[in-house]
Amino acid sequence: MQNEDFKSSIILFFLISFFSISCFSQDLNWKEIQNGIWKASVGVPESISLLKAADIQPKVDALQNLPSTSFPFSKDKISAEVIDGKVYLRFPLEREEQIYGLGLNFKTVQQRGRIMQLHVDHYGGRDNGRTHAPVPFYVSSKGYGVLIDAARYITVYAGTAVRVDTDDPPVLRDRNTDKQWKAQPYSDAVEILIPAQGTNIYVYGGSSPMEAVQRYNLYNGGGYIPPKWGLGFTQRVPTLYSDADILKEAREFEDHNFPLDFIGVEPGWQSMAYPCTFEWDKTRFPDPEKFNSDLKALGVRSNLWLNPYVSPIGSLYPKLKDLTGSHTVWNGIVPDFTIKETRDIFKKHFVENHLNFGVSGYKIDEVDGFDSWVWPDIATFPSGYSGEQMRQVYGLLVQDMTGKWFKELNQRTYGLVRASNAGASALPYVIYNDYYSHRDFITALINSSFIGVLWTPEVRASKSAEEWVRRMQSVCFSPMAMLNAWADGTKPWSFPEVETAVREVANLRMQLLPYIYTTFSQYHFEGLPPFRAMNLVEGFLHQQKSSDGKLESTDNPYEIAVKSEIKDQYMMGDELLVAPMFAGETERKVILPQGKWYDFYNGKYVGENEIIRVSPGIEKIPLFVKDGGIIPMRPVERQAPKVGEKVELIIRHYGTSNGDFVLYDDDGVSFDFEKGDYSTVKILVKKDKKGQLKGVISKPEKGKPYGYHKKVTWEFMTN
Ligand code: GAL
Repeated sequence: MQNEDFKSSIILFFLISFFSISCFSQDLNWKEIQNGIWKASVGVPESISLLKAADIQPKVDALQNLPSTSFPFSKDKISAEVIDGKVYLRFPLEREEQIYGLGLNFKTVQQRGRIMQLHVDHYGGRDNGRTHAPVPFYVSSKGYGVLIDAARYITVYAGTAVRVDTDDPPVLRDRNTDKQWKAQPYSDAVEILIPAQGTNIYVYGGSSPMEAVQRYNLYNGGGYIPPKWGLGFTQRVPTLYSDADILKEAREFEDHNFPLDFIGVEPGWQSMAYPCTFEWDKTRFPDPEKFNSDLKALGVRSNLWLNPYVSPIGSLYPKLKDLTGSHTVWNGIVPDFTIKETRDIFKKHFVENHLNFGVSGYKIDEVDGFDSWVWPDIATFPSGYSGEQMRQVYGLLVQDMTGKWFKELNQRTYGLVRASNAGASALPYVIYNDYYSHRDFITALINSSFIGVLWTPEVRASKSAEEWVRRMQSVCFSPMAMLNAWADGTKPWSFPEVETAVREVANLRMQLLPYIYTTFSQYHFEGLPPFRAMNLVEGFLHQQKSSDGKLESTDNPYEIAVKSEIKDQYMMGDELLVAPMFAGETERKVILPQGKWYDFYNGKYVGENEIIRVSPGIEKIPLFVKDGGIIPMRPVERQAPKVGEKVELIIRHYGTSNGDFVLYDDDGVSFDFEKGDYSTVKILVKKDKKGQLKGVISKPEKGKPYGYHKKVTWEFMTN
């Protein structure tokens, strides 16, 4: 065996030497590996990659259900070379084409014309590729996606560079005399530089950008369905809170009649943090098992903060000493999670001391790193992977590892992480950060939909009651409704003048759980992101033109969509358009896609295919529903339904058209749905002979989990 290994190392050595000294142009051998997904290799792909770190398991059946599609461009327009140990790639772009994705950006949605160096990092205020999830995947408005599956700092020239031998050169202009001269001439390609001997590349086809995104998510295993409690409200408490403080806090939520499903316990649960011991601090948490069960008795779960850097005073330190990188972070050693033994040591400790005590999940902090708060690129790791490779995959590795602990217990978790990358769709984590710009947080939420990650615009503190309520409204229309009070000790009712408005929007989220949960099931089964950029929405496509085929009218929404970016409104699921308000604004514009739209709150018609202005008042976040839209809801409850609990179903219909909706349900906590233990019921609203709208709902299949009473309350919102 050892001999065999030796032989293959020699072959690999020669291959690598050959590739590193040569300039090697390659005809790519594209293979359709799944319906509408093509893969090709350039050079010798590395043994670690993003999709490998995420351990993706493609959802083959769901992919087969998508329509077949052809390769999105002429294959000979793609070029690939290995020069001096690096991969040089070129993909074509057409004139009208726009591209989206390329990481979790905070300020821009359209990426054509940008240069990105995709590098896991804390977001530093510029969309330059350094971000929490620098996913090397882009989606074209023409309906395809491209992924570079390399764990490297990849540079993408997204329609910026112009080759001498280009097919579609920019017009030559004289700056002295020609006003149309541009500092950045037209470019007809996306060019990508990958500092590696080789890489795998994937092309995802489709008839729309959304279909390409669906393929990407389904290939990654389909999106994650959070447990129901994960979609309820969560409060993170100040760092040094004790068990008693936390229980008191949970009771205060009851007193204020405010929703609460889980509490985030920040660094102080550990005997030391930054670096971490992962051991309970006995002064603040003398009996962690009892603490978790007392909390559970209030219907509340716990989520533990950590960063992965192991403290020398912790019991894990001696076991991990030889399984860590060459450099420390805050005096802690950096576990090499690509090694099974490292993962096993972590698992044993975490399962025995946390999961078995009832801990429901983790917040995995500091895996993105400001450069000086993480290992340097010069660090080495016992697996042989470089500091750079580790930096690009670390967030994926910890998400995958911790996610599997819960899965083995057949228990869904839902947590937070500060770094991710390609392949993350099926991982049970939501990204957050410290950057705290309300507007940019919404743009990040929009961008998360292109790249298979979830993002929360968390609330911490605010300068005014107005800012507070506006932030609270946005976070309630995001993947995780969270108040992170680790530093400020804020509570949802910290601004008494808006306490009612804040409670109302949190209650509304709780009422919308049937709709939100179904939306997440679409993420899993169909690859449709739960929170969606307008550019992914049908009737809002970039290439859409007004009826006369022109894009000239000043109030043509498609003109706006092409020229400016839609960075402040998005869809939650199929039916609901969310247009957050920001402090200082009393009105805003909303761009309505094709078809008629209705006000969520009163069912009134608001417009169609146009830009409207709304001034909703402090107590409401503008929400709009499509004509024929069906929104399944439930009565106001402080917590998500428990296993086996049945709740009342309230079905709202908007507009005057017929509507249909498939409501999804399962036990809300386990993975039994993967074996078919779930229900889908069809909701139909149709006009009867007299022209009156009537609703019907099908019966759930016998023996499958279904948490709703038979009797349904129908609300026809538009009269
Ligand atoms: C930060 C994190 C905050 C909070 C804090 C605790 O890195 O982003 O949300 O958890 O650490 O020290």
